[in-house]
Amino acid sequence: MPTESSIPVITIDGPSGSGKGTISRMLARELGFHFLDSGALYRLLAFAAQRRGIALDDESALAALSGELDIRFPADGDGDRVLLDGEDVGDAIRTEAAGSGASRVAVLPAVREALLDRQRRFRLVPGLVADGRDMGTVVFPDADAKIFLTASAEERARRRCKQLNEKRILVKFEDVLADIQVRDERDASRSVAPLQPAQDADLLDTSELDIPATIERLRDLVNNRLNP
Ligand code: DC
Repeated sequence: MPTESSIPVITIDGPSGSGKGTISRMLARELGFHFLDSGALYRLLAFAAQRRGIALDDESALAALSGELDIRFPADGDGDRVLLDGEDVGDAIRTEAAGSGASRVAVLPAVREALLDRQRRFRLVPGLVADGRDMGTVVFPDADAKIFLTASAEERARRRCKQLNEKRILVKFEDVLADIQVRDERDASRSVAPLQPAQDADLLDTSELDIPATIERLRDLVNNRLNP
């Protein structure tokens, strides 16, 4: 049985819309690794709290709730499926409202602490690709490769609009951009685990890169770290 730290982890952090979700899923599939979508945990928590009438600033109730949630990411699905108490809430947690709720609960230190173990339990053989904001800085500081993906706020808003429009959710570019800017500010300025690259992270700006080009660059960065 390997010790926890001998199981390879690749962390991919960055702001929403930097392409993290798509890119890290593809990388996990390519390597045959497990995948942790840590943002989904914050989204699920905010979503479950709203359902149960718990205020999004009630730190102790939210921390307690995070330990109780029955969350599963079915391995057979298309990647977007997430089961909360057996119910598929994959679409419901990916709305803009759920995203802002997630960003609000994510500022609370007791919530972040309560979710730490849950996230580390995803580190299973043969390896893990972990997507989030603090994967390389807090959750897996001993990761084998740490990538920080960025893109301009405008480019991220454009991508987000396209994604939502494809799901027939109609949104205005200005609203999405404003929301991204508010969320960036909140994520970057919170006192616990703010969004910032780990000191030993490789930075990759995807503003001018499409998905295949990003994956190619990522593959090189990861290979250089795993086989120095
Ligand atoms: O990646 P995402 O958009 O699904 O994340 C939703 C929110 O959760 C985001 O505003 C910040 C927060 N989050 C976090 O604080 N730490 C993480 N590791 C992942 C997400």
